[in-house]
Amino acid sequence: MKKILITGGAGFIGSHVVRRMVQKYPNYQIVNLDALTYAGNLENIADIEHEPNYTFVKGDIVDADFISALFRTHQFDGVIHLAAESHVDRSITDPLAFVKTNVIGTMNLLNAAKEIWKGNFEGKRFYHISTDEVYGTLGATGLFTETTPYDPNSPYSASKASSDHFVRAYGETYGLPYVITNCSNNYGPNHFPEKLIPLLINNILQNKPLPVYGDGKYTRDWLFVKDHAVAIDLVFHEGKNHETYNIGGFNEWQNIDLVRLLCRKMDSKLNQTEGTAEQLITFVKDRPGHDLRYAIDATKINRELGWKPSVTFEEGLEQTIDWYLQNKTWLENVTSGSYQKYYEKQYQ
Ligand code: NAD
Ligand code: TYD
Repeated sequence: MKKILITGGAGFIGSHVVRRMVQKYPNYQIVNLDALTYAGNLENIADIEHEPNYTFVKGDIVDADFISALFRTHQFDGVIHLAAESHVDRSITDPLAFVKTNVIGTMNLLNAAKEIWKGNFEGKRFYHISTDEVYGTLGATGLFTETTPYDPNSPYSASKASSDHFVRAYGETYGLPYVITNCSNNYGPNHFPEKLIPLLINNILQNKPLPVYGDGKYTRDWLFVKDHAVAIDLVFHEGKNHETYNIGGFNEWQNIDLVRLLCRKMDSKLNQTEGTAEQLITFVKDRPGHDLRYAIDATKINRELGWKPSVTFEEGLEQTIDWYLQNKTWLENVTSGSYQKYYEKQYQ
């Protein structure tokens, strides 16, 4: 029996991780801690909420006393930490919110783990989920490896870099057994429609403009979220302490090419004439400090742990579009209310 805390399990990636862990490990007790911010949604994990090895706790990782008490009550053996403010555009308008959750929240979890484990680290593990954005931007060539120096450019990536450094520092200073993974852009079911791919799907369904920042020549490396969840499970169980693993799909796309591909797929799914969705493409003001290119070298996790993506981008995108078409109520629910206000502020 192991007791595992997963933070941020009502969010996009966290919900896939929680489902996988609850279903695959019936002998684990999984506690999902989430503050249910705009990005957290219990609908994402409604299918597993009654499983006997699953508990949901609503709470904020910024609240140190609450976190300390939670760890004392549950005596966790492991932590898989995904809770974060995760949207670059929001970090540009409200950087402090990112420092609070991503840096202070992570510190609170580290302190609570250190407090209950008391230097007895046998069978214990603190797994911090991070991003490739901590490495900054690439030019036209090259890939991020685990030894690429950190060079964050946005308040989001700076806050994630800071939290990564604290996790490492707790490993060096107090011997805390940690692993960190830095993953590329994820896509898939349950992705909040402020991020590029679900925003495009939603806008095509609504016949609204498809906003492309700048000239659209920015490049991202896309990974299907369920493949990320598989990698997280693997690293949690088989990764080496005090190590970092990069996770990515060797799947680079310039934004404009990705937008056009998605438009073609949506036309076909919606039985529209080819070219209908593309007419909605609108070039808009660029994001300040926009990183030109991210691309991950995922050789280490493949070589050492045998992980590789299970689906091609075409297959993953098909599954993603189908999920959104079959879950229009989910989309309507998350895009009502405060989403409309955010959207008007960001794109007007
Ligand atoms: P998300 O924004 O969809 O979900 C974040 C979750 O954390 C939400 O459920 C939210 O309610 C919760 N949360 C936020 N602040 C909290 C707080 N103070 N206390 C408790 N819970 C809080 O994010 P995501 O895309 O699922 O990302 C999860 C993790 O993976 C993040 O750490 C992110 O940096 C990292 N990551 C994301 C991507 C990506 O492409 N989405 C890529 C690499 C790494
Ligand atoms: P996003 O999904 O926000 O992820 P990240 O910034 O973490 O990579 O954006 C992916 C890319 O798409 C990024 O280059 C910014 C761009 N983008 C647009 O062109 N238009 C949009 O409306 C959004 C949200 C993003």
